[in-house]
Amino acid sequence: MDRPVEVAVIGGSGLYSLLEHAVEHVVATPYGPPSDPVTVALLAGRRVAFLPRHGRDHRHPPHLIPYRANLWALRALGVRQIIAPCAVGGLRPELGPGTFAVPDQLIDRTSGRDRTYYDRGAVHVPFADPYCPVGRRTVLAAARRRGIDAVDGGTLVVVDGPRFSTRAESRAYAAMGGTLVNMTGQPEAALARELALCYTSVALVTDLDAGVEQGGGVTQTEVLRVFAANTARLRALLLDALAALPTDRECPCGDALDGIRLPFALP
Ligand code: ADE
Repeated sequence: MDRPVEVAVIGGSGLYSLLEHAVEHVVATPYGPPSDPVTVALLAGRRVAFLPRHGRDHRHPPHLIPYRANLWALRALGVRQIIAPCAVGGLRPELGPGTFAVPDQLIDRTSGRDRTYYDRGAVHVPFADPYCPVGRRTVLAAARRRGIDAVDGGTLVVVDGPRFSTRAESRAYAAMGGTLVNMTGQPEAALARELALCYTSVALVTDLDAGVEQGGGVTQTEVLRVFAANTARLRALLLDALAALPTDRECPCGDALDGIRLPFALP
């Protein structure tokens, strides 16, 4: 029998495929179909998965991504550790386009999204530290080996979109402690924790957000152009990090549901 798929990448805007010689898996979930079929391939002797969160043709806008189906499908395939690259805006002048960052905190400013698996029962997972400490260390080490000067830490503010923020909103996010802003970081991170998965965000800054830059504000063209210019570096970093993630999980992420009575069995 095939070994389970242990690790996965959920790709964001501009990253719609990652693995060569991959096999497609169409996975059904209680929450409907995921954004796209999951592709699985062998990498450094382990089976790894890739799922483009917007779909390969970018048909799912950030507020309508089937986040619950995506995480559920990955767990059903055996995935326990996820690396999640995303395009972000910088909320500080020093976090300019082309910067890589591995955030350690988030502020959820989204609303109206399906944000939990637990609409029944009393299930409250710990979320003080939303990202996997081992995943973060692994990505940062992989970046160092590649000569990428990735920023260790930062607070990702997740907004609903799909529009970009006003200057006043952007300044308010910076004032509340945010250093990065995007539209997809939540509820993805929280849903991963609710399934006791490791989740590591890898942020690629594509623009300075409206409160920091002096020009006409953020545009989609700018975001996609800067992302495309950095895709090769991002791909290399992700493949290195996937291969380097330790198989034995030595982080608290897998214990998130310990002692809690679940209203249903996890896949
Ligand atoms: N994604 C990339 N840049 C962004 C920004 N400035 N605001 C929200 N989401 C983004």
